[in-house]
Amino acid sequence: MVRAWTFPLALEAAATEPLFLQIARGISGDVQRGRLRAGDALPGSRTLAAELGVHRNTVLAALRELAAEGWIEAEARTTRVARDLPAPAGRARLPKSGLGFDLTPPPQIAELAPPGWRGLDLAGGLPDPRLIPVDELGRALRRALKARPTLLDYGSPLGEPRLRAALASLLGEVRGLACPPEQLMITSGSLQAVDLAARCLFRPGDRVGVEDPGYPPVWQTLRAAGAELVPLPVDGEGLCVENLEALLPLRAIYLTPHHQFPTTVTLGAARRMRLLELARRHRIALLEDDYDFEFHFEGRPVLPLASGDTAGVVVYMGTLSKILAPGLRLGWVAGPKALVEALGAQRRMGDLHGNRVMEGAVAEFIEDGLLQRHARKMRRIYAERREALLEALDRHLPGPLEVVPTGGGLSLWARTAPGVDPAAWATRAQAAGVLVMPGRRFDFQGRKVPFLRLGFAALAPKEIREAVRRLQEAL
Ligand SMILES: Cc1ncc(COP(=O)(O)O)c(C=O)c1O
Repeated sequence: MVRAWTFPLALEAAATEPLFLQIARGISGDVQRGRLRAGDALPGSRTLAAELGVHRNTVLAALRELAAEGWIEAEARTTRVARDLPAPAGRARLPKSGLGFDLTPPPQIAELAPPGWRGLDLAGGLPDPRLIPVDELGRALRRALKARPTLLDYGSPLGEPRLRAALASLLGEVRGLACPPEQLMITSGSLQAVDLAARCLFRPGDRVGVEDPGYPPVWQTLRAAGAELVPLPVDGEGLCVENLEALLPLRAIYLTPHHQFPTTVTLGAARRMRLLELARRHRIALLEDDYDFEFHFEGRPVLPLASGDTAGVVVYMGTLSKILAPGLRLGWVAGPKALVEALGAQRRMGDLHGNRVMEGAVAEFIEDGLLQRHARKMRRIYAERREALLEALDRHLPGPLEVVPTGGGLSLWARTAPGVDPAAWATRAQAAGVLVMPGRRFDFQGRKVPFLRLGFAALAPKEIREAVRRLQEAL
């Protein structure tokens, strides 16, 4: 039986080695590599000749050569790999180690949770995977594929038109952003949006402001695009805009104005106006990461900076990672049309385009009103969980932890009392099965800062109470 064996090489008509020898070396090489094993039947000479586009006599000459060298034998009307060959040491495999070239050291990426973590997770601001509407998503996927099998073709680097339209109209309805679909591009999460924007905007050595404390994964992305990062302080009203002028020139500022990461404070109205004005005057791109707009629990959400941008300085980025599921890898970036087109061209070079099938399915999901329904449900559930965490902290840890009051976000930012070492506490908590993040993980210089970040979205109220109890014990 011939397994699905195909000839391994392209023949070179212009080579000095005659064609029949190239064919013979190709076959004996595959025996040595283990792609062909003792006793395997070779395709017939006519088939092989047709496959290789050579005269049959050339193949017959190659087979004679191989038989003379003992690689093959004729059996009945079939030519087989000789059975008395010494068995290869094993099938050829890629070398496990021993790189044959130089590798630039990959960046060290600090993971939030230890790999395979199974305890109570108060660390992330991620949604509860148990609440993701998998049945509805599955149905939307099936419907999209049945109705539009062309989703399996190549597509546009800007994303599925239906999803672009659905998200653009949602941004208008919910976030007060008048965004035509041609000014919005789908990305693989907001991190890719940051990456593409950085690659389009920055020249090596450009100074780029980032919030401090802030979101370290994005710092790495910005640096990889050549940026020199400038930490910008954050206080109870978000990014401190007052002294920005002294730090110019800045090519861009990456910020999370709605729920500042990790403090969750909202950028005040006066600062917003000042920032937009400063950006307009000095031509600074504002990379606005609005990653969890929907999860605002007290008062009305504040509209994005982008909704007040008349000068085209804001690059507005968002994600379905919090509202739906991070593994979908669906986000977007919106801005002036010329920027979106440049981002598309940038994406095409490394990624061609996103997963059209999933984009088509999520477009269905949004068009049917399911995303909005899910968001409403999750806001209610997360509000309960937030309340449960606030109550539990108030009951068990009123002295050691003081929560910074803010209106939204999927985590709390809590100041630790003098004498409490947040990093040591987090380590002991982890040993007791609870994951929390010490503030130093988000400090630009990795300094010890007296804060803990406590995410509540992934745990039910009962689990939250248990986690806080263990946190108290670990103190
Ligand atoms: C500040 C911030 N931006 C963006 C994201 C989401 O990133 P992505 O859309 O790439 O999943 C997160 C998720 O944790 C985040 O905390």
